[in-house]
Amino acid sequence: MSPITFAHITDLHLPGEPSRELNGVRPNERIAQVVERILARDPRPDFVVCTGDHIGDHDPNSYQRVVEALAPLTMPVHHVPGNHDIRDAFRTHLLPEVTGPTYQWKEERAGLRLLLLDSLLEGEIRGRLGAEQLDWVEQTLTDHRASSSGSGRVFAFVHHQPCYPGVEWMRDYGIEDGPQLLEILKRHGVEHLFFGHVHQPITMTGSGVVCISAPATGFQFTDANGRDQVVPGSAGLNWVQVEGDQVRVRTEMLF
Ligand SMILES: [Fe+2]
Ligand SMILES: [Fe+2]
Repeated sequence: MSPITFAHITDLHLPGEPSRELNGVRPNERIAQVVERILARDPRPDFVVCTGDHIGDHDPNSYQRVVEALAPLTMPVHHVPGNHDIRDAFRTHLLPEVTGPTYQWKEERAGLRLLLLDSLLEGEIRGRLGAEQLDWVEQTLTDHRASSSGSGRVFAFVHHQPCYPGVEWMRDYGIEDGPQLLEILKRHGVEHLFFGHVHQPITMTGSGVVCISAPATGFQFTDANGRDQVVPGSAGLNWVQVEGDQVRVRTEMLF
């Protein structure tokens, strides 16, 4: 069987005004560059996941720009919200088939399951899943393991880091109940979680779960000796390839 490949993109921060600059970059130009790269890859990825911070100006109308920017993609695109998203507008524009909670369980190619989580705590930089969502994760994974296809691989996706990412100024900006999530994932054999929010590629392990972030498609962050620092950097994304029992992640910066 040929490998499954997907693109992990994150932190678009698109302003509604296409030419507007944010932290030294034009995010609308950056996402166009990333979309072009995804379409140029041969073979094209099976799907794309965007882990949040879709808009950059807290204007619900900016989701129209997101829809337009991603429209050229010919494969399924899955979304989770970030702290810069507005949940109702996010749902309306990016999950039009969803009327209830914005966390989802999806089946992708070859039986791969995606756990798409919502860590948005409106008005806060940090994130939280909440007891109701954690119960849903527990129940969903219990049901999955009990089903005939329960041996299939599950990948989790969430905006915020679920544990300390090793960058001091981000220490308080992760998911409050991230450790509980990681314990549930570990108990149910979920080996990989993909996240955004940190605007740089980081790989870490929490409760035995490998947690991998992608660079932002817009501006990047750095660890400037403990202080926050925003740099224009380059647009970037992660390529994830699944083949048999191997999962490979490659970060690509579009210089
Ligand atoms: Fe962000
Ligand atoms: Fe964020």
